[in-house]
Amino acid sequence: MNKISSTSLIGGAVVVAMAVGLYLGVAKRGLPPEGLGMGLWRKIKRKKKPLRVYMDGCFDMMHYGHCNALRQARAVGDQLVVGVVSDAEIIANKGPPVTPMHERMIMVKAVKWVDEVISDAPYAITEDFMKKLFDEYKMDYIIHGDDPCVLPDGTDAYAVAKKAGRFKQIKRTEGISSTDIVGRMLLCVRERSVSDSHNHSSLQRQFSHGHSQKFEDGGSGSRSGTRVSHFLPTSRRIVQFSNRKGPGPNAHIVYIDGAFDLFHAGHVEILRVARELGDFLLVGTHNDQTIR
Ligand code: CTP
Repeated sequence: MNKISSTSLIGGAVVVAMAVGLYLGVAKRGLPPEGLGMGLWRKIKRKKKPLRVYMDGCFDMMHYGHCNALRQARAVGDQLVVGVVSDAEIIANKGPPVTPMHERMIMVKAVKWVDEVISDAPYAITEDFMKKLFDEYKMDYIIHGDDPCVLPDGTDAYAVAKKAGRFKQIKRTEGISSTDIVGRMLLCVRERSVSDSHNHSSLQRQFSHGHSQKFEDGGSGSRSGTRVSHFLPTSRRIVQFSNRKGPGPNAHIVYIDGAFDLFHAGHVEILRVARELGDFLLVGTHNDQTIR
C-alpha cells in the first residue's frame, strides 16, 4: 500500500470513527454534533434507518384520488407499505367491494410510490395490529386521508394510532370517489335510455359524471358523493406522476392506445406486457368524443 493511500485510509478511518463516535455520543440526546447543521444531522440519522410509513385502504375501483393519497403518503417517509383491506372486512364495514382482493392488490402494487403491500389488512387499526406494524413491519407512522373514517359503531378507525402519537394525515382529493364512479356508471346507463327525465336529473345532481362543474348540493360536498375536483394539476405534481424519462436514441418504442376507462387490473396487465415488447412504452388515451 503506498503512502498516500494508507494516509487517506487512516484519515478516512479517523473521520469515520469520529462520525460514529459523535453519532453514538450525541444520538442519545438527539442533538447534532457541534458544527453539524440540524438538516445534515437529520439526513445522517435518516441514513441509519429509513422512515417507514403505513397507509391502508380498500382501494376499490382504484382512481387518481387513491394514487394522489399514495403519492402524499410516500412523501411523508422513505418507504411506503400499503395494507389492502380484505373483502370480508370491507363487507362488514361498508358493504361489498366491486373489485375483489386480488385485483385491488394488482392495482396498488402497480403504483410507483408503493414499496411493499400487505394483503388482507384489517379495516380498523386495532392494538394488536398496530403492535404487529411496529414490531414486525418496523413502521414509524400510520397515515390516512383527512376525511373521517368511522366504524359501524361510530368510533374512529384510527383512534388507537392517534392515541399512540403515531398517526399522520394527508389531504384527501375531493371530487373523486369509488361511490361517485358507480354513480357515473348508473348515469351512463340512464343516458342511453332517457325516458325517465326526473330520475335522470336527480342522478345528475348526485354524481359528478366526471365533469368539474358545480351541482346544487347546498355546498355540503359529502364524502362519498363529492362533486368538484379540487385536484390541482400543477406542473410539479404532473412531473411526479410521470416517470421523468424519454426514450433513448436507439430505443425500441412501443405504442398502445385505448380508452382506459375505469382503469383496472386488466389494463395494468396489458401495459406490463406491452412494455416488455420494447424499451419505451408510449400510451395514447382516446378523448371523450372518440369514445362516444
Ligand atoms: N383517498 C383520498 N382521496 C380520495 C379517495 C381516497 O385521499 N378521493 C384516500 C383515503 O383517505 C385513504 C386512502 O385513499 O387514506 C384509501 O381510501 P379507501 O379506503 O379506498 O376508501 P375511501 O376513502 O372510501 O375512498 P373511496 O370513497 O374512493 O372508495
